[in-house]
This record gives sequence, structure tokens and C-alpha cells, in this order.
Amino acid sequence: MAETKAAKVYVTRELPSAALDPLAEAATVRVWPEELPPPPEVLLAEAADADALLTLLTDRIDAAIMAAAPRLRVISNMAVGYDNIDVQEASRRGILVTNTPGILTKTTADFAFALLLAAARRVVEADRYTRQGRWKTWGPQILLGQDVYEATLGVVGLGGVGLEVAKRGRGFGMRVLYCDSTRRPKEERRYGLACVKLDQLLAESDFVSLHTPLTPETHHLIGERELALMKPTAVLVNTARGAIVDQRDLWRFLKDGRIAAAAIDVSEQEPIAPDDPLLGLDNIIITPHIASASVATRLGMARMAVDNLLTALRGQVPPQCVNREAIPRWRRALPR
Ligand code: DGY
Repeated sequence: MAETKAAKVYVTRELPSAALDPLAEAATVRVWPEELPPPPEVLLAEAADADALLTLLTDRIDAAIMAAAPRLRVISNMAVGYDNIDVQEASRRGILVTNTPGILTKTTADFAFALLLAAARRVVEADRYTRQGRWKTWGPQILLGQDVYEATLGVVGLGGVGLEVAKRGRGFGMRVLYCDSTRRPKEERRYGLACVKLDQLLAESDFVSLHTPLTPETHHLIGERELALMKPTAVLVNTARGAIVDQRDLWRFLKDGRIAAAAIDVSEQEPIAPDDPLLGLDNIIITPHIASASVATRLGMARMAVDNLLTALRGQVPPQCVNREAIPRWRRALPR
């Protein structure tokens, strides 16, 4: 691996040593040591002489950073989503962008289902109720929620995580609808899923779980019109990206009881502002973007991000390259 040792790599957060050590053996590595992301000016300065960046979804890698980084050949994002990176600009410059798909699929689906169950059965509210000393007796009418078993689940986006959520729903005896730009007949047959249009899914589902990437097409995919199609008893779950939902509309619908509840692991602004009106509602659960946060999965993501980066530094195309159109330009820039 001697050929990569001269390469300079900037890593935007501390990662487990089991992932970072192999990187440090192979390249010259600088790591941002703090808990909060490096400020844009630090990122710009560090990228200036870097051959590779290992980034997180909290790091905005835009055209200005790439323009200031003439040696940059690969941006390895430790996430399946890569909406924090200007991929078009990277491709134009022959910079490979990689992500970490697959490894977090089941962990994220488990969490989406945990949120679904918790919102349906008001688990977080019930915990608060108990801690506040409000539990006086067994009450036939207190904290009534929605049944999950045999209800209808609508999965928006049948990628890896969406499919795993659908399978969990089938395990609960649910009727599962999905919508996606690509129809999946094999999965429909194998798992008993029905492909419908988004409007039908919203109108018929008791639980709607979002699993699309954030793109210009999916920005505010769920807003006033879509929320109005949902049942007043319905629960919305979002573990994908905050901006897929118009958060102001969601707040209005939850406040007015026009949908029963929501559970979101992501928000339009992250972290959510302390004065965001959503935080004042009881019928929403808000978690800090932790759907992939299991010990094993986060280590796996870090290792995959390091592997992707080292593969590119060795002059090979990493399998998780998301901008294959960049490859010809990237190859031309390789040292001969
Ligand atoms: C991702 O990978 O895109 C998730 O949002 C964080 O694990």
C-alpha cells in the first residue's frame, strides 16, 4: 500500500480506531477532533491539500470546497444518503463520491418500526405520564393508541430500508402498500406487497413510513395536500430525510388532530431548533437522527467508508461509487 502513504486524507470526525487505524497505516490522516462538525472555513482549508475526504452527512461539500481542493480525488461519505454533497460538481471535476449502502439497512428498518410502534401505542407519552406521577389507577380510557397488527402500512420508497420495513410489517400481519418510481414484481410476489400510487397509499394507510432519498423531486413530497389525504387516525414515520416533509404543515396537522401522530428521526433543520413548535406537541416523537445507530452498524459504516476511500486511492473504482459518470475524468487524473 506504499503508493497511498503519500496521500493526504481529511476525516471530519473521530471514528472507531478499528476503522481509522487501517486508514492511518495507509495514508497521512488528519482528523477533526471535536464533537460538532468542522466549520466551513476549516473544511475549506483542510480540503485544500487533501487527496481524499471522509465526510459525514453533517458536512456540506459544495462547489466552493471542491474548487479550493485541486488534489481531491474521492469523497467518501459515511452514510447511505449523500444529499450533503454536490455530486454533479464532483462528477464535473472527476472526483468520485462513495456512500455506505446495505450495511445499515436492517438497523434503520428496525428503528423505523420501533418508532412506528412507539407512536402507535404512545410509548414515549406513557413514559412521561408515569414519570410525572400522573399514573393514579388502571384507566379504561387512558393513553389509548392505534393497533399495529393487521393494520395497513404504506411504504414510500421501496429501496433496501423500505423493503425491510415492509417485511417487518408483514411479520405483524399488516397489509403492505408501497409506491416507488420502479415497480418490484418479484418482491410483490415474495412478500405480498401491493404497488399503488402515492395518493392511494396515503388515503388507505394507517401507518406511512418514508424511505426515499432527498432529491429535488422528493423535497416536501409530503405537504398539506398529501397530509390532507391521510386518515385522521394515521401515523407518519420519517427516518429518511427531514426535508421530504413540510414540517410546518406537519405541525398544523398534528396540532389540529388531522392526523393522529408522527415519529421523526430527521428534521428539516438538524438539530431541530429548540423553539421549533413541533417540540411543543405530545403526539410526535422526535429522535436525533439515530436510526442507523447500533454499535455494529456504525462500525460497519465507518469501515466501509474507509474501504471505499482506500480503494479509490489505490486507483480502483470502489463498488459503492455513486457517480460512475465521473470515472473517465477521474482515471485521466490518476498518476501514471
Ligand atoms: C444515512 O446513512 O444516510 C443515514 O441517514 C444515517 O445513517
